[in-house]
Amino acid sequence: MLKQLACNMTGLKEYSEGRTTFLTADVEEHTAEKGQPTTDMPVFYNPRMRINRDLSVLFLRAYMEKNDMKLFCEPLAGSGVRSLRYLNEIPGEFNGLLCDVNPMAIETATKNLDKHGFLDRAQVLHGDAKILLLTESRGKRFDFVDIDPFGSPVPYLNAAIQSLNPRGGLLGLTATDMPALCGVYPRVALRKYGGLSTRAPFTHELAVRLLLGRTYSIAAMNGCSIKPLGILSTDHYIRAWIHIESNKTESNKQVDSIGMIRLCRSCQHAEVYSLRQSGSSEFLHEQENCPADTAIAGPLWIGDLYDSKTLERTVKLHELDPEAYHKRVRELLELMTEEQTLVRFPFMDIHDVCDAYNLPSPKRSDITDVLIAKGYQVSRTHFRPTAIRTDAPVREVVSIIKDLIGE
Ligand SMILES: C[S@@+](CC[C@H](N)C(=O)[O-])C[C@H]1O[C@@H](n2cnc3c(N)ncnc32)[C@H](O)[C@@H]1O
Ligand SMILES: [Zn+2]
Repeated sequence: MLKQLACNMTGLKEYSEGRTTFLTADVEEHTAEKGQPTTDMPVFYNPRMRINRDLSVLFLRAYMEKNDMKLFCEPLAGSGVRSLRYLNEIPGEFNGLLCDVNPMAIETATKNLDKHGFLDRAQVLHGDAKILLLTESRGKRFDFVDIDPFGSPVPYLNAAIQSLNPRGGLLGLTATDMPALCGVYPRVALRKYGGLSTRAPFTHELAVRLLLGRTYSIAAMNGCSIKPLGILSTDHYIRAWIHIESNKTESNKQVDSIGMIRLCRSCQHAEVYSLRQSGSSEFLHEQENCPADTAIAGPLWIGDLYDSKTLERTVKLHELDPEAYHKRVRELLELMTEEQTLVRFPFMDIHDVCDAYNLPSPKRSDITDVLIAKGYQVSRTHFRPTAIRTDAPVREVVSIIKDLIGE
Protein backbone atom coordinates (compact mmCIF):
# COMPACT_ATOMS: atom_id res chain seq x y z
CA MET A 1 0.00 0.00 0.00
CA LEU A 2 1.05 3.58 -0.55
CA LYS A 3 1.79 5.43 2.62
CA GLN A 4 2.64 8.85 3.96
CA LEU A 5 6.31 9.17 4.88
CA ALA A 6 8.26 11.16 7.39
CA CYS A 7 12.00 11.66 7.00
CA ASN A 8 14.39 14.55 7.41
CA MET A 9 16.04 16.32 4.58
CA THR A 10 18.26 19.35 4.81
CA GLY A 11 19.95 21.51 2.18
CA LEU A 12 16.80 22.79 0.51
CA LYS A 13 16.86 26.16 -1.22
CA GLU A 14 14.00 28.54 -1.91
CA TYR A 15 12.98 29.26 -5.51
CA SER A 16 10.00 30.96 -7.06
CA GLU A 17 7.92 30.44 -10.20
CA GLY A 18 4.77 32.22 -11.28
CA ARG A 19 3.22 33.57 -8.07
CA THR A 20 4.56 30.70 -5.96
CA THR A 21 7.65 30.23 -3.80
CA PHE A 22 8.83 26.75 -2.89
CA LEU A 23 11.75 24.71 -1.58
CA THR A 24 13.76 22.15 -3.49
CA ALA A 25 17.28 20.72 -3.76
CA ASP A 26 20.00 23.15 -4.85
CA VAL A 27 19.52 23.27 -8.63
CA GLU A 28 22.69 25.23 -9.42
CA GLU A 29 24.83 22.65 -7.61
CA HIS A 30 23.31 19.79 -9.63
CA THR A 31 23.31 21.65 -12.94
CA ALA A 32 26.98 22.63 -12.91
CA GLU A 33 28.35 19.41 -14.46
CA LYS A 34 25.97 18.75 -17.37
CA GLY A 35 24.40 22.18 -17.91
CA GLN A 36 20.99 20.81 -16.93
CA PRO A 37 19.58 19.21 -13.80
CA THR A 38 20.45 15.52 -13.54
CA THR A 39 17.92 12.81 -12.69
CA ASP A 40 20.02 11.78 -9.69
CA MET A 41 19.34 15.09 -7.88
CA PRO A 42 18.09 14.46 -4.31
CA VAL A 43 14.78 16.01 -5.44
CA PHE A 44 14.22 16.69 -9.12
CA TYR A 45 13.34 20.21 -10.24
CA ASN A 46 14.10 21.64 -13.68
CA PRO A 47 13.72 25.42 -13.97
CA ARG A 48 13.73 25.08 -17.79
CA MET A 49 10.32 23.39 -17.51
CA ARG A 50 8.84 26.63 -16.24
CA ILE A 51 7.01 27.36 -19.51
CA ASN A 52 5.48 23.88 -19.35
CA ARG A 53 4.20 24.64 -15.82
CA ASP A 54 3.12 28.21 -16.72
CA LEU A 55 0.99 26.94 -19.59
CA SER A 56 -0.26 24.03 -17.47
CA VAL A 57 -1.56 26.51 -14.88
CA LEU A 58 -3.27 28.52 -17.63
CA PHE A 59 -4.75 25.55 -19.52
CA LEU A 60 -6.03 23.96 -16.29
CA ARG A 61 -7.63 27.22 -15.22
CA ALA A 62 -9.23 27.66 -18.66
CA TYR A 63 -10.46 24.06 -18.52
CA MET A 64 -11.94 24.59 -15.04
CA GLU A 65 -14.07 27.49 -16.31
CA LYS A 66 -16.21 24.92 -18.17
CA ASN A 67 -15.57 21.61 -16.38
CA ASP A 68 -15.86 20.28 -12.83
CA MET A 69 -12.60 20.01 -10.92
CA LYS A 70 -12.77 18.38 -7.50
CA LEU A 71 -9.64 16.27 -7.40
CA PHE A 72 -6.42 16.22 -9.44
CA CYS A 73 -3.53 13.81 -9.24
CA GLU A 74 0.16 14.36 -9.93
CA PRO A 75 1.67 10.89 -9.53
CA LEU A 76 5.27 11.92 -10.38
CA ALA A 77 5.43 15.08 -8.32
CA GLY A 78 9.13 15.70 -7.53
CA SER A 79 9.34 18.81 -5.32
CA GLY A 80 5.58 19.32 -5.73
CA VAL A 81 6.07 22.69 -7.46
CA ARG A 82 3.56 21.91 -10.22
CA SER A 83 0.73 20.91 -7.88
CA LEU A 84 1.62 23.73 -5.53
CA ARG A 85 1.22 26.19 -8.38
CA TYR A 86 -2.17 24.71 -9.32
CA LEU A 87 -3.38 25.08 -5.72
CA ASN A 88 -1.84 28.51 -5.19
CA GLU A 89 -2.51 30.19 -8.55
CA ILE A 90 -5.90 28.83 -9.60
CA PRO A 91 -8.96 29.98 -7.65
CA GLY A 92 -11.34 27.20 -6.58
CA GLU A 93 -12.13 24.57 -3.97
CA PHE A 94 -10.39 21.62 -5.64
CA ASN A 95 -8.01 19.17 -3.93
CA GLY A 96 -4.85 17.37 -5.02
CA LEU A 97 -3.15 14.00 -4.56
CA LEU A 98 0.61 13.87 -5.07
CA CYS A 99 2.91 10.87 -5.24
CA ASP A 100 6.57 10.11 -5.86
CA VAL A 101 8.77 7.06 -5.52
CA ASN A 102 11.56 9.17 -3.97
CA PRO A 103 11.15 9.67 -0.18
CA MET A 104 13.03 12.97 -0.31
CA ALA A 105 10.62 14.29 -2.93
CA ILE A 106 7.74 13.34 -0.65
CA GLU A 107 9.27 15.18 2.26
CA THR A 108 9.96 18.27 0.16
CA ALA A 109 6.49 18.34 -1.42
CA THR A 110 4.90 17.97 2.02
CA LYS A 111 7.01 20.84 3.39
CA ASN A 112 6.03 23.02 0.44
CA LEU A 113 2.31 22.32 0.86
CA ASP A 114 2.58 22.91 4.61
CA LYS A 115 4.34 26.26 4.12
CA HIS A 116 1.42 27.44 2.01
CA GLY A 117 -1.21 26.00 4.37
CA PHE A 118 -2.42 23.49 1.76
CA LEU A 119 -2.13 20.27 3.75
CA ASP A 120 -5.91 20.31 4.19
CA ARG A 121 -6.33 20.38 0.38
CA ALA A 122 -3.60 18.01 -0.71
CA GLN A 123 -2.28 14.63 0.30
CA VAL A 124 1.22 13.32 -0.51
CA LEU A 125 1.82 9.59 -0.84
CA HIS A 126 4.98 7.58 -1.31
CA GLY A 127 5.03 4.81 -3.89
CA ASP A 128 4.72 3.84 -7.52
CA ALA A 129 2.73 6.10 -9.82
CA LYS A 130 0.84 3.31 -11.62
CA ILE A 131 -0.23 1.66 -8.38
CA LEU A 132 -1.39 5.01 -7.04
CA LEU A 133 -3.39 5.76 -10.18
CA LEU A 134 -5.11 2.40 -10.16
CA THR A 135 -5.77 2.08 -6.42
CA GLU A 136 -6.42 5.62 -5.20
CA SER A 137 -8.86 6.38 -8.02
CA ARG A 138 -11.36 3.68 -6.98
CA GLY A 139 -14.55 5.41 -5.86
CA LYS A 140 -13.17 8.94 -6.39
CA ARG A 141 -11.96 9.27 -9.95
CA PHE A 142 -9.65 12.14 -10.82
CA ASP A 143 -10.79 15.15 -12.84
CA PHE A 144 -7.23 15.89 -13.92
CA VAL A 145 -4.13 13.72 -14.08
CA ASP A 146 -0.75 15.28 -14.80
CA ILE A 147 1.95 12.89 -16.02
CA ASP A 148 5.36 14.58 -15.99
CA PRO A 149 7.95 11.80 -16.03
CA PHE A 150 11.60 11.36 -16.91
CA GLY A 151 11.34 10.36 -20.60
CA SER A 152 8.13 8.91 -21.97
CA PRO A 153 4.68 9.11 -20.34
CA VAL A 154 3.53 5.98 -22.23
CA PRO A 155 4.12 3.49 -19.37
CA TYR A 156 1.64 5.47 -17.24
CA LEU A 157 -1.02 6.06 -19.91
CA ASN A 158 -3.28 3.09 -19.30
CA ALA A 159 -3.43 3.63 -15.54
CA ALA A 160 -3.87 7.40 -15.98
CA ILE A 161 -6.74 7.04 -18.44
CA GLN A 162 -8.47 4.44 -16.24
CA SER A 163 -8.15 6.73 -13.23
CA LEU A 164 -9.92 9.67 -14.92
CA ASN A 165 -13.56 10.53 -14.33
CA PRO A 166 -15.44 8.67 -17.14
CA ARG A 167 -17.80 11.64 -17.53
CA GLY A 168 -14.77 13.61 -18.70
CA GLY A 169 -11.34 14.48 -17.38
CA LEU A 170 -8.20 16.31 -18.36
CA LEU A 171 -4.92 14.53 -19.02
CA GLY A 172 -1.65 16.48 -19.11
CA LEU A 173 1.29 14.65 -20.69
CA THR A 174 4.95 15.65 -20.92
CA ALA A 175 7.43 13.65 -23.03
CA THR A 176 11.19 14.25 -23.05
CA ASP A 177 12.31 11.18 -25.03
CA MET A 178 12.93 13.29 -28.10
CA PRO A 179 15.51 11.05 -29.88
CA ALA A 180 12.85 8.31 -30.19
CA LEU A 181 10.07 10.73 -31.11
CA CYS A 182 12.10 12.83 -33.55
CA GLY A 183 13.38 10.13 -35.88
CA VAL A 184 16.77 9.28 -34.38
CA TYR A 185 15.37 5.92 -33.20
CA PRO A 186 12.27 5.17 -35.33
CA ARG A 187 12.11 1.58 -34.06
CA VAL A 188 11.95 2.79 -30.46
CA ALA A 189 9.13 5.14 -31.46
CA LEU A 190 7.25 2.24 -33.06
CA ARG A 191 7.76 0.13 -29.95
CA LYS A 192 6.69 2.83 -27.48
CA TYR A 193 4.27 4.95 -29.49
CA GLY A 194 2.95 2.43 -32.02
CA GLY A 195 4.15 4.55 -34.95
CA LEU A 196 7.37 5.27 -36.81
CA SER A 197 9.08 8.60 -36.26
CA THR A 198 11.23 10.15 -38.95
CA ARG A 199 13.60 13.02 -39.56
CA ALA A 200 11.71 15.90 -41.16
CA PRO A 201 11.55 19.69 -40.78
CA PHE A 202 8.30 19.13 -38.87
CA THR A 203 9.67 16.29 -36.77
CA HIS A 204 8.51 17.89 -33.49
CA GLU A 205 4.97 18.03 -34.83
CA LEU A 206 5.30 14.33 -35.69
CA ALA A 207 6.45 13.78 -32.10
CA VAL A 208 3.30 15.44 -30.73
CA ARG A 209 1.14 13.46 -33.14
CA LEU A 210 2.81 10.17 -32.16
CA LEU A 211 2.10 10.92 -28.50
CA LEU A 212 -1.53 11.79 -29.31
CA GLY A 213 -1.83 8.67 -31.48
CA ARG A 214 -0.70 6.45 -28.61
CA THR A 215 -3.02 8.31 -26.22
CA TYR A 216 -5.92 7.73 -28.62
CA SER A 217 -5.18 4.00 -28.96
CA ILE A 218 -5.06 3.47 -25.19
CA ALA A 219 -8.12 5.67 -24.59
CA ALA A 220 -9.98 3.83 -27.37
CA MET A 221 -9.03 0.47 -25.86
CA ASN A 222 -10.78 1.71 -22.70
CA GLY A 223 -13.87 2.88 -24.63
CA CYS A 224 -12.87 6.57 -24.49
CA SER A 225 -12.53 9.37 -27.01
CA ILE A 226 -9.86 12.08 -26.92
CA LYS A 227 -9.94 15.79 -27.65
CA PRO A 228 -6.61 17.63 -27.71
CA LEU A 229 -7.14 21.06 -26.10
CA GLY A 230 -3.62 22.30 -26.65
CA ILE A 231 -0.07 21.17 -27.36
CA LEU A 232 3.39 22.62 -26.81
CA SER A 233 6.78 21.93 -28.31
CA THR A 234 9.72 23.85 -26.93
CA ASP A 235 13.28 23.29 -25.66
CA HIS A 236 13.81 19.56 -25.12
CA TYR A 237 10.24 18.37 -24.59
CA ILE A 238 6.67 18.21 -25.84
CA ARG A 239 3.48 18.59 -23.85
CA ALA A 240 -0.21 17.90 -24.54
CA TRP A 241 -3.45 18.75 -22.70
CA ILE A 242 -6.18 16.30 -23.69
CA HIS A 243 -9.82 15.98 -22.65
CA ILE A 244 -10.76 12.31 -22.32
CA GLU A 245 -14.25 10.89 -21.81
CA SER A 246 -16.00 7.57 -21.99
CA ASN A 247 -17.63 7.65 -25.45
CA LYS A 248 -17.33 4.61 -27.71
CA THR A 249 -19.32 6.16 -30.59
CA GLU A 250 -16.99 9.17 -30.82
CA SER A 251 -13.98 6.94 -30.29
CA ASN A 252 -15.05 4.78 -33.27
CA LYS A 253 -15.34 7.91 -35.45
CA GLN A 254 -11.86 8.99 -34.38
CA VAL A 255 -10.35 6.01 -36.17
CA ASP A 256 -10.38 8.41 -39.15
CA SER A 257 -7.97 10.67 -37.23
CA ILE A 258 -5.27 8.01 -37.21
CA GLY A 259 -3.06 8.13 -40.28
CA MET A 260 0.33 8.61 -41.83
CA ILE A 261 2.40 11.63 -42.86
CA ARG A 262 4.74 11.36 -45.84
CA LEU A 263 7.43 13.82 -46.82
CA CYS A 264 9.72 13.93 -49.81
CA ARG A 265 12.95 15.41 -48.46
CA SER A 266 14.03 16.23 -52.03
CA CYS A 267 11.05 18.33 -53.19
CA GLN A 268 9.61 18.97 -49.67
CA HIS A 269 6.12 17.81 -50.66
CA ALA A 270 4.22 16.50 -47.62
CA GLU A 271 1.00 14.56 -47.46
CA VAL A 272 -1.32 13.52 -44.66
CA TYR A 273 -3.71 10.63 -45.10
CA SER A 274 -5.95 8.54 -42.89
CA LEU A 275 -5.09 4.87 -42.39
CA ARG A 276 -8.56 4.11 -43.73
CA GLN A 277 -7.55 5.68 -47.08
CA SER A 278 -4.20 3.88 -47.18
CA GLY A 279 -3.11 2.94 -50.65
CA SER A 280 -5.78 5.04 -52.36
CA SER A 281 -3.59 8.07 -52.98
CA GLU A 282 -0.57 8.48 -55.21
CA PHE A 283 2.27 10.57 -53.84
CA LEU A 284 2.78 13.52 -56.18
CA HIS A 285 6.27 14.96 -56.13
CA GLU A 286 6.60 18.69 -56.69
CA GLN A 287 9.47 18.76 -59.15
CA GLU A 288 10.08 16.90 -62.38
CA ASN A 289 12.19 13.76 -62.04
CA CYS A 290 12.32 14.21 -58.28
CA PRO A 291 15.06 12.03 -56.74
CA ALA A 292 12.29 11.10 -54.27
CA ASP A 293 13.95 10.74 -50.90
CA THR A 294 10.64 9.89 -49.22
CA ALA A 295 10.16 9.56 -45.45
CA ILE A 296 7.10 8.20 -43.72
CA ALA A 297 5.81 8.58 -40.15
CA GLY A 298 2.96 6.93 -38.32
CA PRO A 299 0.45 5.62 -37.64
CA LEU A 300 -0.14 8.78 -35.64
CA TRP A 301 -2.87 11.32 -34.79
CA ILE A 302 -3.77 13.44 -37.84
CA GLY A 303 -6.67 15.31 -36.19
CA ASP A 304 -6.83 18.72 -34.52
CA LEU A 305 -4.16 19.82 -32.06
CA TYR A 306 -6.04 22.66 -30.34
CA ASP A 307 -9.52 23.49 -29.09
CA SER A 308 -10.22 27.08 -30.13
CA LYS A 309 -12.49 27.92 -27.17
CA THR A 310 -10.05 26.60 -24.55
CA LEU A 311 -7.21 28.45 -26.27
CA GLU A 312 -9.22 31.68 -26.31
CA ARG A 313 -9.92 31.40 -22.58
CA THR A 314 -6.24 30.58 -21.92
CA VAL A 315 -5.16 33.74 -23.77
CA LYS A 316 -7.63 35.85 -21.72
CA LEU A 317 -6.40 34.36 -18.45
CA HIS A 318 -2.82 35.14 -19.42
CA GLU A 319 -3.82 38.76 -20.10
CA LEU A 320 -5.13 39.08 -16.51
CA ASP A 321 -1.62 38.74 -15.06
CA PRO A 322 1.03 38.48 -17.80
CA GLU A 323 3.87 39.29 -15.40
CA ALA A 324 3.27 36.01 -13.56
CA TYR A 325 4.44 33.98 -16.55
CA HIS A 326 7.63 33.55 -18.53
CA LYS A 327 7.99 36.26 -21.17
CA ARG A 328 7.79 33.70 -24.02
CA VAL A 329 4.32 32.54 -22.98
CA ARG A 330 2.55 35.48 -24.62
CA GLU A 331 4.18 34.84 -28.00
CA LEU A 332 3.62 31.08 -27.77
CA LEU A 333 -0.10 31.62 -27.15
CA GLU A 334 -0.24 34.09 -30.02
CA LEU A 335 1.39 31.60 -32.41
CA MET A 336 -0.82 28.73 -31.21
CA THR A 337 -3.90 30.87 -31.85
CA GLU A 338 -2.61 31.71 -35.31
CA GLU A 339 -1.81 28.17 -36.37
CA GLN A 340 -4.78 26.33 -34.85
CA THR A 341 -7.01 26.37 -37.95
CA LEU A 342 -4.23 25.24 -40.29
CA VAL A 343 -2.77 22.28 -38.38
CA ARG A 344 -3.99 19.86 -41.05
CA PHE A 345 -1.10 21.18 -43.19
CA PRO A 346 2.30 20.08 -41.86
CA PHE A 347 4.40 23.21 -41.63
CA MET A 348 7.02 24.11 -44.25
CA ASP A 349 10.33 25.43 -43.04
CA ILE A 350 11.40 28.20 -45.40
CA HIS A 351 15.10 27.45 -44.86
CA ASP A 352 14.59 23.75 -45.64
CA VAL A 353 12.60 24.58 -48.79
CA CYS A 354 15.32 27.00 -49.92
CA ASP A 355 18.05 24.43 -49.17
CA ALA A 356 16.18 21.76 -51.15
CA TYR A 357 15.89 24.05 -54.19
CA ASN A 358 19.31 25.72 -53.80
CA LEU A 359 17.83 29.17 -53.29
CA PRO A 360 18.78 31.96 -50.92
CA SER A 361 16.18 32.50 -48.22
CA PRO A 362 13.95 35.61 -48.37
CA LYS A 363 12.14 36.93 -45.30
CA ARG A 364 9.31 34.69 -44.13
CA SER A 365 6.98 37.67 -43.87
CA ASP A 366 7.58 38.60 -47.56
CA ILE A 367 6.53 35.09 -48.65
CA THR A 368 3.49 35.25 -46.35
CA ASP A 369 2.37 38.59 -47.84
CA VAL A 370 2.45 37.21 -51.39
CA LEU A 371 0.63 34.00 -50.39
CA ILE A 372 -2.15 36.05 -48.77
CA ALA A 373 -2.37 38.34 -51.82
CA LYS A 374 -2.82 35.21 -53.97
CA GLY A 375 -5.70 34.04 -51.75
CA TYR A 376 -3.92 31.29 -49.84
CA GLN A 377 -4.33 30.71 -46.12
CA VAL A 378 -1.11 31.07 -44.17
CA SER A 379 0.03 31.21 -40.57
CA ARG A 380 3.17 31.06 -38.50
CA THR A 381 3.64 28.12 -36.14
CA HIS A 382 4.82 27.97 -32.52
CA PHE A 383 7.01 24.97 -33.49
CA ARG A 384 9.59 26.96 -35.49
CA PRO A 385 10.23 30.65 -36.14
CA THR A 386 11.33 29.99 -39.75
CA ALA A 387 8.24 27.97 -40.76
CA ILE A 388 4.76 28.57 -42.14
CA ARG A 389 1.57 26.56 -42.47
CA THR A 390 -0.27 27.07 -45.72
CA ASP A 391 -2.75 25.44 -48.07
CA ALA A 392 -0.46 26.42 -50.97
CA PRO A 393 1.57 23.62 -52.58
CA VAL A 394 5.35 23.69 -52.25
CA ARG A 395 5.77 24.54 -55.95
CA GLU A 396 3.77 27.75 -55.38
CA VAL A 397 5.95 28.68 -52.41
CA VAL A 398 9.08 27.94 -54.46
CA SER A 399 7.81 30.08 -57.33
CA ILE A 400 7.10 32.97 -54.91
CA ILE A 401 10.59 32.63 -53.43
CA LYS A 402 12.10 32.73 -56.95
CA ASP A 403 10.12 35.90 -57.76
CA LEU A 404 11.18 37.53 -54.49
CA ILE A 405 14.89 36.90 -55.06
CA GLY A 406 14.55 37.91 -58.71
CA GLU A 407 15.45 34.54 -60.21
C1 LIG B 1 10.42 14.89 -14.15
S1 LIG B 1 10.30 14.58 -12.43
C2 LIG B 1 8.81 15.38 -11.95
C3 LIG B 1 8.90 16.86 -11.96
C4 LIG B 1 7.66 17.58 -11.48
N1 LIG B 1 6.45 17.04 -12.05
C5 LIG B 1 7.80 19.06 -11.79
O1 LIG B 1 6.97 19.64 -12.54
O2 LIG B 1 8.77 19.66 -11.29
C6 LIG B 1 9.82 12.88 -12.38
C7 LIG B 1 9.59 12.37 -10.98
O3 LIG B 1 9.07 11.04 -11.07
C8 LIG B 1 9.55 10.28 -9.96
N2 LIG B 1 9.37 8.87 -10.33
C9 LIG B 1 10.09 8.13 -11.22
N3 LIG B 1 9.52 6.90 -11.37
C10 LIG B 1 8.42 6.88 -10.56
C11 LIG B 1 7.42 5.92 -10.30
N4 LIG B 1 7.43 4.71 -10.90
N5 LIG B 1 6.43 6.24 -9.43
C12 LIG B 1 6.41 7.46 -8.82
N6 LIG B 1 7.33 8.41 -9.03
C13 LIG B 1 8.32 8.13 -9.89
C14 LIG B 1 10.97 10.76 -9.78
O4 LIG B 1 11.42 10.51 -8.46
C15 LIG B 1 10.84 12.25 -10.11
O5 LIG B 1 10.64 13.01 -8.92
ZN1 LIG C 1 9.82 14.66 -54.29
